[in-house]
Amino acid sequence: MTSPNNSRKPLIAGNWKMNLDRKSIQELVGAVSSGIVGRGAVDVAFFPPYVYLPEVLRACEGTNILVGSQNASEQASGAFTGEISVSMLKDIGIPSVLIGHSERRHVYGETLEQIHRKVAIALEAGLQVVLCLGETLQEREDGRTEAVCREQLSTALEGVSRVDLTRITLAYEPVWAIGTGVVATPEQAAAVHLYVRGVLAGLFDDSGAQSTRILYGGSVKADNVTDLMSVPDIDGALVGGASLAAKSFLPIIEGAQG
Ligand code: PGA
Repeated sequence: MTSPNNSRKPLIAGNWKMNLDRKSIQELVGAVSSGIVGRGAVDVAFFPPYVYLPEVLRACEGTNILVGSQNASEQASGAFTGEISVSMLKDIGIPSVLIGHSERRHVYGETLEQIHRKVAIALEAGLQVVLCLGETLQEREDGRTEAVCREQLSTALEGVSRVDLTRITLAYEPVWAIGTGVVATPEQAAAVHLYVRGVLAGLFDDSGAQSTRILYGGSVKADNVTDLMSVPDIDGALVGGASLAAKSFLPIIEGAQG
């Protein structure tokens, strides 16, 4: 079952992280693009490592697959060795960027302020943003899940206009579920998605909240995606490990169609 709100088309996005190589990427993109023909009820996206973006873009030409980057600098340009700017992404035709992934927040220490700046500069450049948020296990055990999600959301979206909200997708990814094989139950995810949508309504308005896609991420597999997608407020999935091979990713896309 997909979302009852027809305006929110489900999205299944693959976050490849720092995995794959040219050969496996060609195979994966080829198999996924032919496997989704006739399955237009679900949007599909790939988030490859930076260096592969141009060739993934080329390989996805003529398909409906959206290609985005896993990160971008909060700086516009200049002496920032090793960084990639939003204008560079735009220059090569990348339409979308993932911001605030838990590995960026927790492994690389990205701050709420940096994430806020990244969202702002990406929107300013005309890109679409997939903004990730979610609590750690400790925060959940301390009863702080809602407070953490509220803070991550309200700081990242500070100053974002109602018009620009239409270019934002959220991804709720409990940190304890990412790469662990421990998926949130549909009930756990439902509670947070509903809460996050309420926060969005408070920051913007009801129609903005209702039309924003909120993906779930964290150990999504073919055998749990249908249950997750049966939750009215879950509008798709951000998939890590299971997005690296067509044999695990295609069944997720299929499962998302109900
Ligand atoms: P996972 O990763 O599916 O491997 O848990 C999800 C993510 O990090 O986006």
